[in-house]
Amino acid sequence: MHKDLERILVSKQELEKRIAELARDINNDYRGKEPIFLGVLKGSVIFLSDLVRSVDLDCTMDFIGLSSYGNASATSGSVRITKDIEKDVEQRDIIIVEDILDSGYTMSYLVDYLKSKAPSSIRICVLLDKPARRKTEVHADYFGFEVPDDFVVGYGLDYAERYRNLPYIGVLKPEIYNDKKEVDVN
Ligand code: IMP
Ligand code: MG
Repeated sequence: MHKDLERILVSKQELEKRIAELARDINNDYRGKEPIFLGVLKGSVIFLSDLVRSVDLDCTMDFIGLSSYGNASATSGSVRITKDIEKDVEQRDIIIVEDILDSGYTMSYLVDYLKSKAPSSIRICVLLDKPARRKTEVHADYFGFEVPDDFVVGYGLDYAERYRNLPYIGVLKPEIYNDKKEVDVN
């Protein structure tokens, strides 16, 4: 285990097993369709790349960059686009892929933004759900694991851009992020 972690929350084996289950659900729900997997940069990329390799559908991928300014470990609710989607999504089935649903501000903003582009459908697939901190009315159609109100890293999730490459999800030691100044949290 990485020295900055307090404990491992989800192991590599648990991630693999659960992602295969999510892919199976998506295969069943989108049979005969050609969804767009829309990854939110950068936290979703590891999850997205494993998920799509277990999906047995014709599909495409696109990415959007979103940034929410807050303190080091919590978002403030003001979201902006740092990289827009590249392809037309009108009348397409979009599956948003995100690392974690925390306050929900980022996801609510993204769903509203995408609705303005008139897709056929929008569903949300998140690896982690932290319901204790929800501030908006948003729920995931697919989610991997519910997590407690701790700051978690690994498998795409970062703290100050670090730890994304860990092959498991762990709880960061609070002393690593305490007393840090304002940073972008996405
Ligand atoms: P929101 O609060 O739901 O808007 O989440 C915004 C973003 O904050 C997420 O997409 C993550 O990138 C990041 N985030 C929220 N909670 C955590 C966490 O526990 N670890 C790492 N990143 C997090
Ligand atoms: Mg993120």
